[in-house]
Amino acid sequence: MILEIVKYGSPVLRKKGERIESVTPEIRKLITDMFETMEENHGVGLAAQQVGVAKLLTVIDVRAVTDRPSTLELDGEPADVASIMPLVLINPEVTPVGERVKGSEGCLSFPEIYAEISRPESVDVKALDAKGKPISFRCGGLLARAVQHETDHLNGLLFIDRMEKKVKQKLQAELDELQAETKAAKK
Ligand code: NI
Repeated sequence: MILEIVKYGSPVLRKKGERIESVTPEIRKLITDMFETMEENHGVGLAAQQVGVAKLLTVIDVRAVTDRPSTLELDGEPADVASIMPLVLINPEVTPVGERVKGSEGCLSFPEIYAEISRPESVDVKALDAKGKPISFRCGGLLARAVQHETDHLNGLLFIDRMEKKVKQKLQAELDELQAETKAAKK
């Protein structure tokens, strides 16, 4: 089922996600719906907050992006990124490794707004998968960026919080308009 994507201005985007203690049928259904919603909207990642649910759950799939590489290491060995796609992260813990790099980001909760964001190039990730099984890996490139963008959502953080001040200032009018639209639509 395709869910409605919550836009900037909705309070749920600022909520911290609750830990998921077990992968119930409801969580499994939510995961399926989140993938469908993400694909329908051509996204690379989607956090539960973006469909109105404040839980520590995100889905990611970078396979459709061919012009921005990702890297993966499993147990310290290079591995095929596709081997862990589509990716479900439950209660993820993300540790940055490596230098910060700038890269373009968008967000399904901010239609048509894009900006360069500086983030660590690689991250170590520990999480539970869709079956509730612990997984861990190191990733880089686009996948590392997606993991960080999505885990920010799970903590109530948005990419506008990571923008350089002057970048955000340039977008401020658009952001204010989007926020006002979201609030007006709710009434
Ligand atoms: Ni986003």
